[in-house]
Amino acid sequence: MSSIVTFEIEDRYMAPFFPKQKISIERGEGVFVWDEEGRRYIDFTSGWGVTCIGHAQPVITEALVSQSRKILQNPNSGLTYSPARAGLLLLMKEVLPSHLTHIFFSNSGAEANDAAIKLARKVTGRLDVISTHQSFHGRTISTASATGQAKHREKFNPLMPNYRFVTYGDPDDLKQALDSDVAAFIIEPIQGEGGVHVPSKLYLKEVERLCRENGTLLIADEVQTGFCRTGPMFVTGEMGVNVDFLTMAKGIAGGFPFGGFAMSGQVASRLEFGDHGGTYCGNPLGCAVAHAVIRYLLDHKISENVEKMGSICLARMAEWKQNHPEAIGDIRGKGLLLLVEFADAEYAAKVADECLTRGLFVRQTQGSGIRVFPALNIKEAELEEGLAVMQAAVEAVVA
Ligand SMILES: Cc1ncc(COP(=O)(O)O)c(C=O)c1O
Repeated sequence: MSSIVTFEIEDRYMAPFFPKQKISIERGEGVFVWDEEGRRYIDFTSGWGVTCIGHAQPVITEALVSQSRKILQNPNSGLTYSPARAGLLLLMKEVLPSHLTHIFFSNSGAEANDAAIKLARKVTGRLDVISTHQSFHGRTISTASATGQAKHREKFNPLMPNYRFVTYGDPDDLKQALDSDVAAFIIEPIQGEGGVHVPSKLYLKEVERLCRENGTLLIADEVQTGFCRTGPMFVTGEMGVNVDFLTMAKGIAGGFPFGGFAMSGQVASRLEFGDHGGTYCGNPLGCAVAHAVIRYLLDHKISENVEKMGSICLARMAEWKQNHPEAIGDIRGKGLLLLVEFADAEYAAKVADECLTRGLFVRQTQGSGIRVFPALNIKEAELEEGLAVMQAAVEAVVA
């Protein structure tokens, strides 16, 4: 096939939910991808924070091949045991905060959040859920209800009742909103889709204290921040914030659709057979891939690479800001979850287009931002190559 044929087929038959970029990607390797005509691009989006150890990663291929030669899906699914699942559970216990004693696997981040909300209602016997403005928690009806962005909500009103919103980073706002009806507070420890907002260090600890005081369960949505995206394995783990649920997806299996949630022993002790489930939950194939990815993150000390590459990015971006204060307003983020804020959405769109023309994928975020979140094992030379393209794009737009 050629790109033109692929465009025609997708444009005709695929549900029109995405404004498509006219590029048909055929293959990838590490941080690079190639289109059907053989043109090479650098991927600074890692498939939206998913391909955390690069495209066509050999350890993932090996896990897929060897597990698929054994078994993909158990007879009676979760009713039977699986050594692949047991192996992943043991490894997860190594990387999760120790108070999170029980884990369940899902197929996506939205599904993990949906389950955490549902189970928090059961455990507390309360109905209300508080979330934050600008948050993103998924696109199912309950996670869209918990998402604090009008564009994901307003077309589907009325959404689920009993969802309320507070200002991200403001503990006083949360304090006022909490009452005896609130089952759960769901929060991203760093807001990703909302524009990469990093709260103050004390905020999450205060959130934990307020929730505890009110008998409200705290759900940390680490779908985007988990698995070393910002440096540590989990943001809440590093900060010593004791959450009741920690939800995850994206980087957990490096591109294979997989997710999960971990919960405290106290929460788990209130749950019983039939409270949750799912046909593919904890399927051996996903478990084998997730195990290979997490092993890779640990064995290659990926956290250290993220810290180092993240500082290089921030230093370059600070230079751009200094040279073009009229174009760049802010630079923020942590590790390899970063955002450059441009003067306005039109500016950011032009820079993103210029990047693509020059062979670099970036992600325009919340209009005026451009998010940079490449594979976590990116090498310095690859990073510098991508940053040089981005700089040239900024300069072309400024000119
Ligand atoms: C913080 C956060 N939560 C949940 C989701 C939804 O995950 P999924 O697309 O796997 O359902 C996302 C996706 O971007 C996310 O960033």
